[in-house]
Amino acid sequence: MTNKTVTITDNVTGKSADFTIRDSVHGPSVVEIGSLYKEFGYFTYDPAFTSTASCQSKITFIDGEKGILLHRGYPIAQLAERSSFLEVVYLLIHRVLPMKESLEDFKRNISKHMLLNQGILNFFNGFHYDAHPMAMLTAVVGSLSAFYHDRIDISDAFHREQIASRIVAKMVSIAAAAFKHMMGHPIVYPDSKLSYSGNLLNMMFSMPTEPYEINPVAEKALDQLFILHADHEQNASTSTVRMAGSTGTNPFAAIAAGCAALWGPAHGGANEAVINMLDEIGSVDNIAKYVEKAKNKDDPFRLMGFGHRVYKSYDPRAVIIRKTCHDVLEALGVDDPKLELAMRLEEIALQDEYFIERNLYPNVDFYSGLIYKALNIPSSFFTVLFAIGRAPGWIAQWMEMIADPDQRIARPRQTYRGPEMRDYVEEFQRGSK
Ligand code: ACO
Repeated sequence: MTNKTVTITDNVTGKSADFTIRDSVHGPSVVEIGSLYKEFGYFTYDPAFTSTASCQSKITFIDGEKGILLHRGYPIAQLAERSSFLEVVYLLIHRVLPMKESLEDFKRNISKHMLLNQGILNFFNGFHYDAHPMAMLTAVVGSLSAFYHDRIDISDAFHREQIASRIVAKMVSIAAAAFKHMMGHPIVYPDSKLSYSGNLLNMMFSMPTEPYEINPVAEKALDQLFILHADHEQNASTSTVRMAGSTGTNPFAAIAAGCAALWGPAHGGANEAVINMLDEIGSVDNIAKYVEKAKNKDDPFRLMGFGHRVYKSYDPRAVIIRKTCHDVLEALGVDDPKLELAMRLEEIALQDEYFIERNLYPNVDFYSGLIYKALNIPSSFFTVLFAIGRAPGWIAQWMEMIADPDQRIARPRQTYRGPEMRDYVEEFQRGSK
């Protein structure tokens, strides 16, 4: 604890009050302003929370200026290169890297929970063949709350861990079932002999009619992509999970709220937008024209997959995934003009003064979209893969929130700018302005 304070003086009334400054382990300290209203009768106004810490957390740290991303203190590059997705999930949920037996138990538990109740699979029959997979994911994840409710005690730490394993396990099976529904193909069940990412590939692409072999390059790339998406502190979907969860709602319902928030193009939908942009550019010959459009302030066109709100030097995840992307394309021998177009666009933009000056590098979505495309995954499914990767972050943050003694129902305030109080007007008297 620190004795540092900041003094705020109200120049209207002349009243002053001290507010405690609480230091962070990394990153800016925070001013505790909970008593501001009591002291001065003011609320703070910070739309989009640009200067507001909504919680204290021990899970993830980001320094956007320096391009740093840590999970439980470990740099993302070390986790992406040396760990596996399920080990990172364990780290996020259980706070420490596991011993060998603990990880094996954890994997067995995840594998066991991958099987979906037949009643859950029946939900898919109700969706039209062209339903967006994020709509199916959101609905079916939410409906898990109908299957797991009376046996859940969220105040019990053991129950919370069980819920976490179920979420991580069932996300992958629900996603694969949504994919099969889109394709009109029969459901494939999970196989306990396969890895987490191997299971996803098998459940998505294997068919009863012919043998399917999991490509180890694809399996490794997916596992790494999931690690890179595993958590990103208080982003929009995670904050949504915390907000919904703060009411004490069923945790599966809170995770469904996170899926809904992730779906938007400003969040998890950007990887899909990259592929749509490549469609629009069409051919290598048009790149110069589109780069000029992106630089023109009067043109709304932007290079999708370039730039980031938080990372202002570089996105540490993109550095890792760029290499994987190039390796995957080479290893799979992918010969797709759209991928060639993307690689050429990356090259041209990285040499352009406009992008260099503004630190506009390709972000993680630029490369993830290209990898998914190389794996023959339709672009509407990209955000579902983001959701699978982000699920452990959502659930770890939910667990942390429930166990936090400072936790209360999240209830922001507002500054009201509507009409002043006025009397009700009878219908026959309305119409005159
Ligand atoms: N193409 C062209 N110019 C760009 C781009 C881009 N993709 N991104 C930023 N710029 C320019 C801006 O016009 C601005 O130029 P100026 O200084 O001459 O006015 C400068 O770079 C700074 O840009 P801002 O808009 O202030 O950056 P901000 O942090 O607000 O936006 C954002 C970040 C939204 C990610 C933006 O870079 C963008 O729209 N990128 C494309 C969409 C995208 O890839 N989104 C995914 C982000 S990753 C994620 O959220 C999971």
